[in-house]
Amino acid sequence: MKRLSVVTGATAGIGYEVMVQLLDQGVSVIAVGRNIDKLNRIKEQFKEEINTQKLTLIQGDLSYHQGCMDVSNKIIEVINQFGGTLDLLIHVAGIVKSGYSENRDHQELTFATNHLSVYLLTGKLYGFLKKSIDPRILIVSSLSHYRAWFDKTNLQSKRCYNVLRGYQRSKLYNVLFSYRFHRMDKDIKIYAIDPGVVKTEIGDKNTKGLALFVWKIRKKSGVDAKLPAQQMVQIALDEKYIKDNGGYMKNGESVKSSRITYQIKKQDYLWKESEKLTNFVYPFDEVSIEKS
Ligand SMILES: NC(=O)c1ccc[n+]([C@@H]2O[C@H](COP(=O)([O-])OP(=O)(O)OC[C@H]3O[C@@H](n4cnc5c(N)ncnc54)[C@H](OP(=O)(O)O)[C@@H]3O)[C@@H](O)[C@H]2O)c1
Repeated sequence: MKRLSVVTGATAGIGYEVMVQLLDQGVSVIAVGRNIDKLNRIKEQFKEEINTQKLTLIQGDLSYHQGCMDVSNKIIEVINQFGGTLDLLIHVAGIVKSGYSENRDHQELTFATNHLSVYLLTGKLYGFLKKSIDPRILIVSSLSHYRAWFDKTNLQSKRCYNVLRGYQRSKLYNVLFSYRFHRMDKDIKIYAIDPGVVKTEIGDKNTKGLALFVWKIRKKSGVDAKLPAQQMVQIALDEKYIKDNGGYMKNGESVKSSRITYQIKKQDYLWKESEKLTNFVYPFDEVSIEKS
């Protein structure tokens, strides 16, 4: 079966390895990255795949609203050239950031990049996934979500921001998003992925002081990005994972996520806030608005 996928964060770490392994499996990839130099290196490395349209590169910034809209519009253009169906959507892009910063929409940067982009991009591509006979969405969360707590009054950690709190919460939101999506649509399979500790550059890019020091130590015990990528590609393609639809996946197994993630009110609260912040309503929510 010919399949078309979208992979965000494809210029480095886990996302890059997912892109490579999907191509190896004969899946066409629309790869999203923000850094032109890195995209040019991929272009050079995968000349043949690009010439044969197995790989399409899209440049864009997922940290703010218009950036996400531009990326999704570019992706939609490519999907339409392929016949209008998307089979796999794999959200890998993410950041860890020391010091409070905002994007141009005045949203906390980690929240916007790691969570809001997932909400908006999935929503914009929803109709194309619905046309696939076996659509699947994977979202890379993290074991750090177990340490996060949910504060309705401070969703974006605008108060008392610190690097760990901001990151842990964004990864908690990845799971809450995934579970709420699953409650509303069981046909598109969705998986929150816990890749464990992985030897990538994520913690070296935007952290300093103690956070950078701790990351450098933790990273030493991390696995190569090829390993979680391999597990993710299996979850994306293998029939045996259909039964795990809606699950939190670690080492290829569905395991329990944190207690908070199963709380319907918290799932719904985050979803409603994301709807307001992105000004985007999912088709399944339009139906429930009409009914109420
Ligand atoms: N490494 C770990 O131990 C670990 C553990 C648990 C979960 N995770 C999660 O795994 C995912 C991938 O992380 P990684 O470790 O592979 O890190 P990475 O090597 O830094 O990769 C992150 C990717 O996201 C891209 N990205 C960041 N901000 C972006 C933006 N605004 N717009 C578009 N793309 C953007 C990066 O682009 P650039 O190449 O331009 O930086 C890079 O391609 C993240 O969601 C992270 O939270 C990682």
